[in-house]
Amino acid sequence: MQATAELKHTKLPVLKTALPGPVAQQVVAHDAQYISPSYTRPYPLVIKRAKGAMIEDVDGNIFLDFNAGVAVCSTGHAHPHVVEAIKKQVDDFLHICSADYYFPQMPQLAEKLNQLAPGAHDKRVHFGNSGAEAVEGAVKLAMYATRRQKLIGFFGAFHGRTMGALSLTASKFKQRAGFGPQALDVTHVPYANCYRCPYNLTQETCGAKESKGPHCARVIEELLFKTTVPADECAAIVLEPIQGEGGYIVPPASFLQTIREIADRYDIKVIADEVQSGFGRTGKMYASEHFGFVPDILTSAKGIASGLPLSATIARADLMTWGPGAHASTFGGNPVAIAASLATLELLEDGLIENAAQMGDYLLDGFRDLMGKHAIIGDVRGKGLMIGIELVKDRATKEPVPAAMVRVETECFKRGLITLGCGQSTIRLSPPLVIDKDQCDFALKTIDEVLTAITPTV
Ligand SMILES: Cc1ncc(COP(=O)(O)O)c(C=O)c1O
Repeated sequence: MQATAELKHTKLPVLKTALPGPVAQQVVAHDAQYISPSYTRPYPLVIKRAKGAMIEDVDGNIFLDFNAGVAVCSTGHAHPHVVEAIKKQVDDFLHICSADYYFPQMPQLAEKLNQLAPGAHDKRVHFGNSGAEAVEGAVKLAMYATRRQKLIGFFGAFHGRTMGALSLTASKFKQRAGFGPQALDVTHVPYANCYRCPYNLTQETCGAKESKGPHCARVIEELLFKTTVPADECAAIVLEPIQGEGGYIVPPASFLQTIREIADRYDIKVIADEVQSGFGRTGKMYASEHFGFVPDILTSAKGIASGLPLSATIARADLMTWGPGAHASTFGGNPVAIAASLATLELLEDGLIENAAQMGDYLLDGFRDLMGKHAIIGDVRGKGLMIGIELVKDRATKEPVPAAMVRVETECFKRGLITLGCGQSTIRLSPPLVIDKDQCDFALKTIDEVLTAITPTV
């Protein structure tokens, strides 16, 4: 009980045992016996409860969470407004199979999502349970609407691990190894990673600043359509407006705009996977808004319900015309998750998106300042609270240094800060959108200390 009060009232870490503590060690051992070894646990954080941006572990240690369950707990852990909405819904009913029966909150949330998704056109929503499911729905819809089968995706992309989504995922070979042949016919091309341009061009030389658009987008029309992907067989181009697992990579706006133009010329649909970048994380409702980008289909999940499993495939109404039975699931659009999502939206619109923008700018400035002190930081990038700090062996060669990323994760954990890597050697910061300046200062100070501590050895 005492620990709960402490958790509520502290906003910075309090460590009481060596890590992992004795109870955590027992849980980790138990877990190792029974749980699939396919999970990737970077360090032994064993949670007992969490509140706001703070997590208490099973030994009473309190951590500052700069990961939010991988960009999920958008309103912070167990926000009272979200918990109240969940409790109310739990008292009313838990499940009704939304694919077969009606309840009022479902179209209420869909109407709201449609208003908030980019583009003034009418839209419709299909609800699922996870990000991968939203991607499956988006791809099925694009195939159904176009009667075409080929897809274009990007290296570095992560769209999930179900068989269809996995065909699009091209982030790490371990996610693919042993699972071929792929279910879908996807051709991947390099993403717009200007920090390490796959074509060795710059924004001055690649066309990004001219009306023709950057080479990495034009390659779809100039190379793929002439060789491996007949345009009239291509259903959709699938992309993350800011690449997530691939390394928190922010493309130039002209990349997305050129892809939009190419797609329109051949009546190909554009799917924006905003599972990680959506729901206020980047300081706007959806990352697409930063680039004036309007997809035909948008996928949303992770932060959508502050931690309950829910996802949405949001599409142009004139595309989502499939008939009854074409696509549905038993649990998709669960009433408790929908209640949590409606409460989440109220909090986002009531100031959390704004806070994400402000705290994000503060952190980005802080980490850019740290570049003056730590040569290991090759790049600092992001929007709002979707921030990547890429570590390199040397700034001239930009050679990634994955061992340093692992050390930073572990050393931050030992100091009470929860972070997670992404890409080859990027520290990912995706805290709950409720964090304040003192918590940002703690993260800056801790990462500064950790980089100082590890630099001589990595
Ligand atoms: C952009 C993107 N799409 C899809 C997914 C898959 O989501 P889920 O793990 O909920 O299936 C993820 C998960 O990290 C993601 O980042």
